[in-house]
Amino acid sequence: MSSTTAAELAAQILAAMDSPEVQAKAEQALERSKALGFESDWDAVPEKLRAFRQAIFASAKVLPPGGSVETGVFRGGTSGPLILSNPPESFHIGIDPFGNAAQSYPELAEAYAQWKPVRRTLKRLTKLAQERDVTYLHYAMGSSRFAECDLLEVGQQVRVVHLDGDHREQAVIDELAYFRRKIQRPCLFVLDDHDSTYPGVETAMQKAGQGMAKVFHRLYDYPGFPTKLGFSAWVHCS
Ligand SMILES: C[S@@+](CC[C@H](N)C(=O)[O-])C[C@H]1O[C@@H](n2cnc3c(N)ncnc32)[C@H](O)[C@@H]1O
Repeated sequence: MSSTTAAELAAQILAAMDSPEVQAKAEQALERSKALGFESDWDAVPEKLRAFRQAIFASAKVLPPGGSVETGVFRGGTSGPLILSNPPESFHIGIDPFGNAAQSYPELAEAYAQWKPVRRTLKRLTKLAQERDVTYLHYAMGSSRFAECDLLEVGQQVRVVHLDGDHREQAVIDELAYFRRKIQRPCLFVLDDHDSTYPGVETAMQKAGQGMAKVFHRLYDYPGFPTKLGFSAWVHCS
């Protein structure tokens, strides 16, 4: 594995996304997530969520076993599938200051600063993780605080990182720099909202994504939005 390059792993993950095994697991994860009531901002674009699930299950097939990290949890629409893609006795780390309007999206406080859905989401994710023998840890803080406090153990076996919190350039640079420094093994990074609505994601990638190999960068029509919205996936090798 150590001699396999990031570009080779990226190509393997892209190919594995279309394998019947990965597609079946991705569909099962959708059913389970729906049954548990998880929601995503992307529910209006099912093909985007399908590609997300296929990418994380493909990473589980191609990369060494390991757990997941997510910045930006909201209603659990992507945390649920991440937990489902993890092997037993691994972990899922969620990082989101949601409920706390000052630290979340202050301008969107109505949607993001409500404690009731936060409690409901955390309870559902805890239940799912327990069923799967996955250790679930939620950090109620912004990702910059998580990085400042250096809360990721060196040597944690992280297989996938999903960045879906603060999409401004400096925030994404800080996330990439921190997680890439701490994760010393091949790992899939998924960058949400990598599109013209959030140009900071692209500029952050240019500044802090050196050496990462692209798996894909996809854009979609989103109902009611004038421009295409999308996301990307990359392989980091330390
Ligand atoms: C778009 S939602 C996440 C959606 C979820 N990943 C999904 O697809 O279902 C964005 C979340 O990012 C959180 N957030 C905002 N700033 C953050 C930061 N600096 N670090 C971590 N999370 C943040 C918000 O509180 C919000 O819950």
